[in-house]
Amino acid sequence: MKEYKRYTLTAALPYANGPIHFGHLAGVYIPADIFARYLRGKSLDIIFVCGSDEHGVPITIKAKNEGVSPQDVVDKYHSLNKESFERLGISFDIYSRTTSPVHYETATEFFKTLYNKGEFIEKTTEQYYDPEAEQFLADRYITGTCPRCGNENAYGDQCENCGSSLNATDLINPQSMISGAVPVLKETNHWFLPLDKYEAFLKKWILEDNKHWKPNVYGQCKSWLDGGLQPRAVSRDLDWGIPVPVKGAEGKVLYVWFDAPIGYISATRELTPDWEKYWKSEDTRLIHFIGKDNIVFHCIVFPAMLNAEGSYILPENVPANEFLNLEGDKLSTSRNWAVWLHEYLDEFPGKQDVLRYVLCANAPETKDNDFTWKDFQARNNNELLAIFGNFVNRTMVLTHKYFGGKVPAQAELSDFDHEVLEQFEKSKQAIEKSLDTFRFREALKEAMDLARLGNKYLADTEPWKIFKTDPERVRTILNISLQLTANLSILFDPFLPDTSSRLRKMIDLKNFSWADGGRKDLLEVNHLLNQPELLFERIEDEVIEAQLQKLKNNKLDNENKALVSEPSKSAVSFDDFGKMDIRVATILSAEKVAKTKKLMKLLVDTGIDKRTVVSGIAEFFEPENLVGQKVCILLNLEPREIKGIQSQGMILLSENADGKLFFVEPRPEAVNGSMVK
Ligand code: 2FM
Ligand code: ZN
Repeated sequence: MKEYKRYTLTAALPYANGPIHFGHLAGVYIPADIFARYLRGKSLDIIFVCGSDEHGVPITIKAKNEGVSPQDVVDKYHSLNKESFERLGISFDIYSRTTSPVHYETATEFFKTLYNKGEFIEKTTEQYYDPEAEQFLADRYITGTCPRCGNENAYGDQCENCGSSLNATDLINPQSMISGAVPVLKETNHWFLPLDKYEAFLKKWILEDNKHWKPNVYGQCKSWLDGGLQPRAVSRDLDWGIPVPVKGAEGKVLYVWFDAPIGYISATRELTPDWEKYWKSEDTRLIHFIGKDNIVFHCIVFPAMLNAEGSYILPENVPANEFLNLEGDKLSTSRNWAVWLHEYLDEFPGKQDVLRYVLCANAPETKDNDFTWKDFQARNNNELLAIFGNFVNRTMVLTHKYFGGKVPAQAELSDFDHEVLEQFEKSKQAIEKSLDTFRFREALKEAMDLARLGNKYLADTEPWKIFKTDPERVRTILNISLQLTANLSILFDPFLPDTSSRLRKMIDLKNFSWADGGRKDLLEVNHLLNQPELLFERIEDEVIEAQLQKLKNNKLDNENKALVSEPSKSAVSFDDFGKMDIRVATILSAEKVAKTKKLMKLLVDTGIDKRTVVSGIAEFFEPENLVGQKVCILLNLEPREIKGIQSQGMILLSENADGKLFFVEPRPEAVNGSMVK
């Protein structure tokens, strides 16, 4: 590969409309951070930029639902996500935001340059408009049925079920997200980037020059290119976003996917006055870390924009990952089927590296993958604790016990000793090879295999058994184990930065760099170690059970919410409502109706009379528990015969998502016969 002088690493700007979850981390931020730390360890000139994506319809919808302003929404999640990334040890050089003044300026300039060069086409097209809300319905303001897969909740820009990118006019039965109204088509004016004009350039650049991209990325680009590119609108009729900097464009803003990637450039401008060399020099290697849903924007649309502008470099690689599922089900912010980073950090203090380890070991690099709490526990207990932690702890404890915490000297070396020592450099090279090709799982496994070898070395040589008879041999074994420990503290550094730094403190290893990895003499003889401390803790079953229970509860809450959000029935007049005679009553006796599963015969005291009512509650209550239960009853419902029993009225019930029924209970002090109104 070409020699580069510097590196610009970008990680997808997450939308500031919700917290970061494990899917984001495994797909984008953990691999990006490992790579950044690895390059920094090699003392290369790198910048690692990210920030919040603060425009777009999901943000305005969230604001509307919560009755706050879009600015409030983005302020909240920008701070939360920035802080969570820091707590996880994601080492961005800058975490900016697309509502920053520098970004407004950069995006505006970028648009103007393209505009002045005549790179846009201006077109009047018909777009959906909400006649009730009197507003155009951009992107996610419109839902309907996906024409490809039949998903009834597809958005105006995308179907999350089948991943198709859509135009709002493709949707079947479109509906406004704002008012629920059926939208009408209305003419509006927009600026389009004619992607078709860049097709030849993109085909050559991607299909011929970028054959080294990951197969999932290359394949997706190829299918876009094979399908033929169409002009894409880069503006929207919205009141949240960067105003289109053209006369006569009032009420129009830049499309979020036009301004967001420019956010990488803006963040770099904020970071350093020397920003241009990171974006405009052919000596710079630009790498975008993203999830698979962002491929088209980073491999096709943004490069076309950069090419049209003319002064920028293009990405050398876009190592997109696939998706992470959670406990066998698709992650979903809206369904609350996710594990949120800030909650994890609160509930597992000091265990940020455990998460980094598990999400890297299980990253969806070539195919979608599943996160399960059981696997999380197993990887912590059986790998981090039982292999890495155990090896380091035994080495440290034995050195303190036998040699007062001072590194002992090696004596004569056995074949096994040589084999272990040779492995340091081999492991380092294998890790480098994997990291250089974005195979993070494999790289991490190489590092763990070195710890595994250390563990085996101690288990096989059993220094604790031979100290009395052969202290020389024990000196050699512990020297080699300590050199291996020092190597682990370097080779694990990109993956587990907190653990590695704690480990280096324990062995008092200062002034290291990645280049020192592989060395057999990192710790000098007689170098004094600090006291050992445990690197990892066991994670007990109860902790995992609690997390699983939490997920279950979230799911239930969400299903209940879906139930509650059933559309309201059409209006009734006050008079009609007044016709219903609803009273407080008490159940006097109850018995199941024979040969039915659901029905219960109740005798109730209504304050006016005692009457029989048949109610469909038998699956949820035992008759003996019902006596004395206060209920609300609709008295004047026409009597009906049910299973040969005259039912006089109806008990009011509510239902949860599982279909379980509950009484609408009056307060205990309400007396029988009092009106419910
Ligand atoms: O998919 C997303 O979460 C987008 N906010 C990513 C934007 S990446 C870049 F272009 F800013
Ligand atoms: Zn679909």
